[in-house]
Amino acid sequence: MSSCHKAYITTPIYYVNDVAHIGHAYTTIIADALARYSRMSGLETFFLTGTDEHGQKIEESAKARGKSPQEYADEISATFKNLWDDFGISYDKFIRTTDEDHMKGVQKAFKVMFDNGDIYKDVYKGHYCISCETFFPEIQLVDGEFCPECGKPTTIVEEESYFFRLSAYQDKLLAWYDAHPECILPRSKRNEVIRFVEGGLEDLSITRTSFDWGVKLPKEINDPKHVMYVWLDALMNYVTALGYGTDEANMDFWPARVHLIGKDILRFHAIYWPAFLMSLGMELPKHIAAHGWWTRDGEKMSKSKGNVINPREVADAYGLDNFRYFMLREVPFGGDGDFSQKALIDRINSDLGNDLGNLLNRLIGMSGKYFEGKVDSTNVAKYYQAELDEVEASLEKLEPLLFEMQIHRYLEELWRPLTVANKAIDKYQPWTLMKEGKEEEAMALNGLIAAILAKVAVMLYPVMPQTCPKIATALGFTIDHASWTRLFKEKQLLESFTIEKTPPLFPRIEAPLLEQAVPEDKAATPKKESKPNKVAKEEPKEEGVALIGIDQFFQTSLKVGTVVKAEEVPKSKKLLLLQVDLGEERPRQIVAGIKEWYSAEDMLGTQVCVVANLKPAKLMGHTSEGMLLAAKDEDGLCMIRPEKPKKPGTPIG
Ligand code: MSP
Repeated sequence: MSSCHKAYITTPIYYVNDVAHIGHAYTTIIADALARYSRMSGLETFFLTGTDEHGQKIEESAKARGKSPQEYADEISATFKNLWDDFGISYDKFIRTTDEDHMKGVQKAFKVMFDNGDIYKDVYKGHYCISCETFFPEIQLVDGEFCPECGKPTTIVEEESYFFRLSAYQDKLLAWYDAHPECILPRSKRNEVIRFVEGGLEDLSITRTSFDWGVKLPKEINDPKHVMYVWLDALMNYVTALGYGTDEANMDFWPARVHLIGKDILRFHAIYWPAFLMSLGMELPKHIAAHGWWTRDGEKMSKSKGNVINPREVADAYGLDNFRYFMLREVPFGGDGDFSQKALIDRINSDLGNDLGNLLNRLIGMSGKYFEGKVDSTNVAKYYQAELDEVEASLEKLEPLLFEMQIHRYLEELWRPLTVANKAIDKYQPWTLMKEGKEEEAMALNGLIAAILAKVAVMLYPVMPQTCPKIATALGFTIDHASWTRLFKEKQLLESFTIEKTPPLFPRIEAPLLEQAVPEDKAATPKKESKPNKVAKEEPKEEGVALIGIDQFFQTSLKVGTVVKAEEVPKSKKLLLLQVDLGEERPRQIVAGIKEWYSAEDMLGTQVCVVANLKPAKLMGHTSEGMLLAAKDEDGLCMIRPEKPKKPGTPIG
């Protein structure tokens, strides 16, 4: 059982079919900030992150690239780990679901649940979305076929399966939510979960026989065709990382203080996970905290939509700590946020530059000019008790905000002392005090400003771990548990010290540093493209046509495709939105300017010829991942189609 001196903090484990984007970085940075606060406040802390590597989706992604699933997982897992290492993420363990220990632990859990009667064998029939690794009841499908989460076609799966008796846990789960109002944060999300569970829970299919890339069932069950459902495998990482089922040395960190997740995976964490734990007879996590999505032009960022922003590019251009501050400050926890460079620049110039950086400069200036750099706090309370009270009142609100996962409000509250400090300089004017011979009062003002900066630096450290130690060095102290205790818990001021000059911490940014589109992290693929993903705009060639060689022609990938879904683009006279099957993992979305000549119905089910290797482009807010071949003259436009039906993906040339 976890003692209150221990804190276990987790991120989700990331799927290795995607490379990291700012959505992933957001979850990880929040967790890192919490872990750093937890350590600084003296708790023994274990911070877990890692990668989720099994399942059909990954098996297929690997196959499409001509790699074994393990090779493919190794490669992508390393890109996540490298990114977190380069970002200085302070994880204690990076788990991979392909780790031997993890797999043993999952098998043990399966056995325990099987032995206690919570797992039984039956036949499953249902609509399965490979991309989301989830079954959906018919009623939830879009147009009777497409996944309600990602819009991709589902497949009907009928197979022998082991089931977990989730239905048996409905009342126990409701009792848990009821007894722990803070188990799901933000609280509004808890109500959503309760409503869902009250609607009734069906038993959960937890094994598959249709593919191989997963954890096998325990030997004792002797059913080698089955592998475990990825979500059972993945959720167990939270306990196998502590040694469940193998070396249980770290199990005393359980239960987790907080599982940080995005809102899209709340159901798995707030329903399945506690039910599995109840079945295992283990304690339940203290908090499951679900944040919102980072969007681009209002759409969730994801690789399949081609609209991802690469966190490395943003951090390289704007500074890692600035990026961290922006992400945590800009969006209320639980809400969605649209990424914009303008908002990032405003936060850097205004909050960080004007309010914080400038205050340090003012202190360096004042103490240099009047006191040869010396700062002494002896008389602060004598002259500035009201300001100190105001500062302490704000600081006292911080921990509860953090524990409630109101990180944006934590940062907002932390800025109030900076306002107090800046206002105090304007109000008391050290230059006037000096002119009037009130040297003691001017020195006390120096002491007040230094104390405020020091307290803010300590409490901001978890969010800006590279910058705050620089502020502390300028103020002659180090950020650690001892200074946290003195400056925050015991409300003390700084000892006398001589200030060290530092170069400006937040140079002003006048214009965006990145082109609008920031490419995804290409670290996973050998070619590194340094230019952002601009949609190539070719000048139309008016006179004649340039001659090209056959090799140039073959640079264009032309393929036969079948239109599996067709709809109108709202408000557009020209565009249709098509999903075209090219024999790949999922259909391509193609926005085609053909509505004057073809209706959506005309196109559905027909075959088309597609330019398959165009850079994605955005038309009326929809990403287009290819172009249809058509011929147009004064009589109108007609599609170019194969003479006889061909398999989707058949190359043309
Ligand atoms: N593998 C599962 C998690 C298993 S945990 C036992 C998974 N992986 S994921 O890579 O798809 O997503 C990992 C996390 O990234 C999720 O918390 C998800 O919400 C988050 N994000 C992915 N895209 C996001 C945004 N665009 N914005 C914010 N976070 C999002 O789900």
